Amino acid sequence: MDIPALTQLAVQTKSRSIRSLFADGKRADNFSTNSQGLYLDYSKQNITRTELSQLFELAETSKLSEKIKAQFSGEIINNTEQRAVLHTVLRSPETTKKHILGHNADEVIATEQHMAKIVDDVSNCKLMSASGDKFTDVIAIGIGGSYYGIKVTLSALNTFHTTGLNAHVIANVDGAAVEEKLAKLNANTTLVVVISKTFTTQETLLNALAVKNWMLKHAPYADIIEKQWFAVSTNIVKATEFGILEKNILPMWDWVGGRFSLWSAVGLPLALVIGNENFNKLKQGAYEMDQHFQKTPFEQNMPVLMALLGIWNRNALQYSSLAILPYDHSLRALPGYLQQTDMESNGKSVSNSGEKLPWQTAPTVFGQEGTNGQHAFMQLMHQSDDIIPTDFIVCLKGASDLPEHHQVLVANCFAQSEALMRGKSLAEVEEELKDAGVTAEEISRLAAHKTMKGNTPSNTLLLEEMTPENLGALLALYEHKIFVQGVIWQLNSFDQWGVELGKQLGNSILSAMNGGEASMLSASSQNLIKRFNTSSNK
Ligand code: F6P
Repeated sequence: MDIPALTQLAVQTKSRSIRSLFADGKRADNFSTNSQGLYLDYSKQNITRTELSQLFELAETSKLSEKIKAQFSGEIINNTEQRAVLHTVLRSPETTKKHILGHNADEVIATEQHMAKIVDDVSNCKLMSASGDKFTDVIAIGIGGSYYGIKVTLSALNTFHTTGLNAHVIANVDGAAVEEKLAKLNANTTLVVVISKTFTTQETLLNALAVKNWMLKHAPYADIIEKQWFAVSTNIVKATEFGILEKNILPMWDWVGGRFSLWSAVGLPLALVIGNENFNKLKQGAYEMDQHFQKTPFEQNMPVLMALLGIWNRNALQYSSLAILPYDHSLRALPGYLQQTDMESNGKSVSNSGEKLPWQTAPTVFGQEGTNGQHAFMQLMHQSDDIIPTDFIVCLKGASDLPEHHQVLVANCFAQSEALMRGKSLAEVEEELKDAGVTAEEISRLAAHKTMKGNTPSNTLLLEEMTPENLGALLALYEHKIFVQGVIWQLNSFDQWGVELGKQLGNSILSAMNGGEASMLSASSQNLIKRFNTSSNK
């Protein structure tokens, strides 16, 4: 089985009604699986057991089991950067760390201990600010993988913010974003963590400088950087050049991809807010999902199933998007996090060996917290011709003291997956309008406008409740799903060369804005630069 054959297999499927598949009374039970506090209902996918078995065959043809072993054992699978991919080791027991990393495990374990000590020392006031005050706030400065993991976990674990410290994340280079945060903060009680794997990211360095100038202006203590600044990076030299003391720099390693780095000292701002115990529970939840992924037969393997269903929708049924709809305010940052994790990993068109891929790869991932999406893009999902596969995510136990609100939230989540699958035919609309006493003339005028295509496939992921363990399992689930899809698509999920051109041109345009050569740029860009320079000189 290969992807073109899969597409051939699905020619009939597009016109098949998902609803008709429920003639099998056991479908809801048989097309679901659970692991680590998560339950996956994939019965609303447009797929039969036979078709699913073809997908498992594709996984075998793709040597998925071997590829999983290769990743977890530290083989060089990021072939363009010649790196291993071992973020999973960061959340595994010390014995595994030593087995996989050998003597390199020592630095990893020492860094974990250093990170935990910082958290404890801040929490028990052993570490105080330069003015001798207790810390009240921590700013995390970083972008991409040095931002999204912290953002999604800080939001999701809002009810686990136990240390009393308030966290603020600064990512965008827009000065308004920086000033908005700094306006609320006291330089004398604010800790800063600069996170940058390369320590060369323009936005992060500019933001860090702005925060440093702000702090030195409002709290001009000679040892304020020593007392209140930490960095997480592979580039110790650049971090010290910026002015951060080496003893306050926590290393990360090139075998941890930025978008998979939350489990490293990148998670320091989170741990400062939820405490070491909860941060370890987050890692434990992810570790349990790692075990599930490595040990469970594909037929019951949650990441593998989600990955293969995504391949079915993307390559067999040719659907080009994926909606991530968490019906949970605390997961509002999850769609953004998955946009990077998924699209920066698999948004490629060249194979591992450098050939043009003859099939589509990552879908366009978007989403928003439910029920907000119902008052935004769900209209398109119900009545445009585009079928957009959807992942619904909801907690059975809500985090609020408003059970009625939670029941309505969950009811809407289930209703949307049912409505997307069921749709509403012309005949159903006409009958509904007739039963409501609408005149035949009105029915003929309105009915077509009220039909809905339906037949939109979805997964519904149920979390028992939002806990560090379940969140860790959820994030690891998607990491592994994306890994499996990269294997099937035969591409490298762990580099991101596509971001380089924008960075290069960003520097060229910045130089042109400051009087440098612009002739290599398009007339459009040159015109835009002129208009900017004219307006900003007013
Ligand atoms: O988006 C491109 C990227 O390189 C991401 O992969 C990375 O997470 C982000 O920029 C930030 O990079 P750094 O952590 O090196 O500042």
